Amino acid sequence: MALERTLSIIKPDAVAKNVVGEIYSRFEKAGLKVVAAKMKQLSKQEAEGFYAVHRERPFFGALVNFMISGPVMIQVLEGESAVLKNRDLMGATNPKDAAAGTIRADFADSIDANAVHGSDSLENAAIEVSYFFPATDVYAR
Ligand code: PPS
Repeated sequence: MALERTLSIIKPDAVAKNVVGEIYSRFEKAGLKVVAAKMKQLSKQEAEGFYAVHRERPFFGALVNFMISGPVMIQVLEGESAVLKNRDLMGATNPKDAAAGTIRADFADSIDANAVHGSDSLENAAIEVSYFFPATDVYAR
């Protein structure tokens, strides 16, 4: 197994529910370390840029509007197989399909407001980490 880094976003619904600490606890218990973090109110332009790959999807406007509806908590997670491990912790995109005990099963209300984002590949993780954090703001631990 390889040491990886992945980008995680705790979305506005979960920040509003005050479960940032509970979600961080799940990362830590799974062996993922927080190596960069910031709370941020995304601008429309930042959210559109981040989700640019989904620009043509019917839900793009709703996704962007949701992501700018309140502050998000953005972090870089580091650990063995961090990309997949984080995806496993998150559960399926639609909380109705998410396995019991996953973050989305426990904290997400709908496919629109689904609590967390996680990079879906190592390649995208590198792109997404650099979208929000200069290399000097990521701390090797
Ligand atoms: S795909 O096909 O795997 O790329 O798509 P998916 O990962 O399922 O979804 C990409 C992101 O879009 C969000 N999404 C939605 N938002 C609003 N409404 C609907 N119907 C919807 N369907 C998907 C989904 O939560 C993903 O966001 P992130 O932040 O990447 O998890």
